[in-house]
Amino acid sequence: MKLLIFGPQGSGKGTQAEILSEKLDMPHISTGDIFRENVKNQTELGQKAKAYMDQGQLVPDDIVIAMIKNRLSQTDANFGFVLDGYPRTIPQAEALDRITKIDKILEVWISDDESLMRLGGRRSCQKCGAVYHLKFNPPKNESQCDKCGSRLIIREDDTEAVIKERLQQYHQQTEPLVKYYQDQNKHIKIDGMPPIIDVTSEIFSKLFIN
Ligand code: AP5
Repeated sequence: MKLLIFGPQGSGKGTQAEILSEKLDMPHISTGDIFRENVKNQTELGQKAKAYMDQGQLVPDDIVIAMIKNRLSQTDANFGFVLDGYPRTIPQAEALDRITKIDKILEVWISDDESLMRLGGRRSCQKCGAVYHLKFNPPKNESQCDKCGSRLIIREDDTEAVIKERLQQYHQQTEPLVKYYQDQNKHIKIDGMPPIIDVTSEIFSKLFIN
């Protein structure tokens, strides 16, 4: 199954995509994670993306589209994947339609206030990418990843000013995707406000996963 998951910042895209990827044994492909890995390794792609990410702006479409085309051409993505954080603009969605056929699109919705509150408590593993929340999904040790033992960090773009800019970009550029995918009859809306386990249940139920 080829799945796509989008929603506002902090809606739990990454959290739910990881759960789905493990359950369905498919790769979790997150454009945000790919960019962060490239920034960390100081690649040319990372250098191009960093300035946009630091300001909460979208990386330009031509850069993102070339990157995702390359990633989806790798063999592990042949039979299915969970795509997290792509597309974020109509031109990105149109490009994706030319690359492959997506089966279902999940929109995970939360309010802007919830977004700000969640990202304030997020902690991420720099090594394996696992995501925690100090209150809602706490690691056993506040500064250490449960899965790989590496140090947990606060993402550089999780400051209040940058989160607000990211939300503005979401409302302007990404929300039009709702209608785009409704018109294709593939859009499934998920209420992202309840606890993680309940959001997962709604997703599994709507995708007919046991
Ligand atoms: P990206 O890394 O994708 O960031 P984002 O879109 O801002 O999304 P987040 O990772 O902040 O949130 P999430 O929904 O994944 O939430 P999470 O599961 O972590 O992108 C970063 C940047 O890269 C962009 O700003 C842009 O510059 C660039 N970029 C990426 N893709 C691009 C593209 N296609 N085009 C152009 N530029 C692109 O959860 C958040 C927190 O809440 C966690 O602490 C979690 O534990 C907690 N939580 C999750 N679910 C729940 C719940 N149900 N209840 C309570 N807490 C919860």
